[in-house]
Amino acid sequence: MSKRTKSIIEIAPSILSADFSRLGERVSDCLEAGIRRIHIDVMDGQFVPNITIGPLVVQSLRPLADQFKATLDVHLMIVQPERFLADFRRAGADIISVHVEACPHLHRTIQMIRELGAGAGVAINPATPLESLEEILPDVDQIIVMTVNPGFGGQELIPATVRKVARLSQILKKRSLNRVAIEVDGGVHERTIAKMAAAGATHAVAGSAVSCIAFGFCSS
Ligand code: DX5
Ligand code: ZN
Repeated sequence: MSKRTKSIIEIAPSILSADFSRLGERVSDCLEAGIRRIHIDVMDGQFVPNITIGPLVVQSLRPLADQFKATLDVHLMIVQPERFLADFRRAGADIISVHVEACPHLHRTIQMIRELGAGAGVAINPATPLESLEEILPDVDQIIVMTVNPGFGGQELIPATVRKVARLSQILKKRSLNRVAIEVDGGVHERTIAKMAAAGATHAVAGSAVSCIAFGFCSS
């Protein structure tokens, strides 16, 4: 009988799907339930066809994060993110992830995030090859593998991204970079999370899947 390998994966609820009229309460519900990582999706209407929030919302959630020793995982889906790194760090971002597609000088941008004292992440869209990360892997703390096209919650996971996660996990193992987290982002719910964990994801962003319960999106 083959031993079932247990893969542990940490859930990071995305506030994108939350009831913003009661955001603090909803985030608190998640933290009371044991969540220790909150995913904050920042969109500028240019890099992605949607506009969401800025440093102000990070700042408003920082006291709650401190109370529960939780991590604010900020995902910048914006052009020229280097313009706002200091603002998001000052607002209380613990990890700042930028898109490889938005950063022609990615190494310098990652250095800037590190100099600010934040964890550094790179996000990669579904059609962007893993090879674009080859040089930067040793310098980052996490890779966000977009498992949907960025911009909106509630989309279905793109099946081909499961293999992409498995290939990235292999690459990190081969280069002894197991310390680099793999966070999958988009379309993660009870029917997809197990295969993502088995593929090697260490963190899973969940917006709509969580919002029904913790964020009060669906009426209870
Ligand atoms: C999409 C965002 C995701 C999204 C996840 O651009 O980066 O974090 O909020 O939402 P679900 O889990 O509903 O796909
Ligand atoms: Zn995200």
